[in-house]
Amino acid sequence: MAEEAGDVDVLVANAGVGVRRDALEDVTREDWHAHLAVNLTAPFLLAQRLAPGMRERRFGRIVFMSSVAAFTGGIVGPHYAASKAGLHGLTHWLASRFAGSGVTVNAIAPALIEDTGMLPGGSEELARRVPVGRLGTPAEVADLTLAVIRNGYITNQLIGIDGGMFPH
Ligand SMILES: NC(=O)c1ccc[n+]([C@@H]2O[C@H](COP(=O)([O-])OP(=O)(O)OC[C@H]3O[C@@H](n4cnc5c(N)ncnc54)[C@H](OP(=O)(O)O)[C@@H]3O)[C@@H](O)[C@H]2O)c1
Repeated sequence: MAEEAGDVDVLVANAGVGVRRDALEDVTREDWHAHLAVNLTAPFLLAQRLAPGMRERRFGRIVFMSSVAAFTGGIVGPHYAASKAGLHGLTHWLASRFAGSGVTVNAIAPALIEDTGMLPGGSEELARRVPVGRLGTPAEVADLTLAVIRNGYITNQLIGIDGGMFPH
């Protein structure tokens, strides 16, 4: 991929899936593997491919898109929560190895972001669960992501953007 894309300085591993399952027994093995593949294995493979070049050039930014579900369990299901929690271990491992090379590694953990594939439209019922009283917006997540990318002194962090749902 680095061959196709050239030098990659910034990786934002944002792609994710979250198919809701309300009961433990409803989570199939296929559900489990599909969520791990997209939400955890793909970010790992991207980082594995791109981080060495960042280290060589002594600059890089890696941001994994996690979820508040990694801390609280969330509403999608155990397959989703576990896949996102795995990103946190990956963040810590990578950040500690690459910090001295100008490469920062962080995870952003949103909750309940409106107008997304996972949460199309709004939901008053869900908004009531958020301390600030409303859902988040994609622009607010993008703004935080850009701030993390701009900043060379934030690394090894799990950063919540959740309207106060989970205090870190
Ligand atoms: N929305 C929320 O409230 C919320 C809360 C916490 C965390 N997140 C996280 O935020 C990230 C973005 O989610 P979103 O809410 O914006 O959902 P979304 O609108 O459904 O976006 C998900 C993105 O992932 C891509 N994707 C899914 N499976 C893929 C695959 N196998 N290969 C390549 N691309 C794939 C989709 O591409 P296509 O459109 O081509 O399918 C889409 O661009 C996810 O990691 C999600 O877990 C979202």
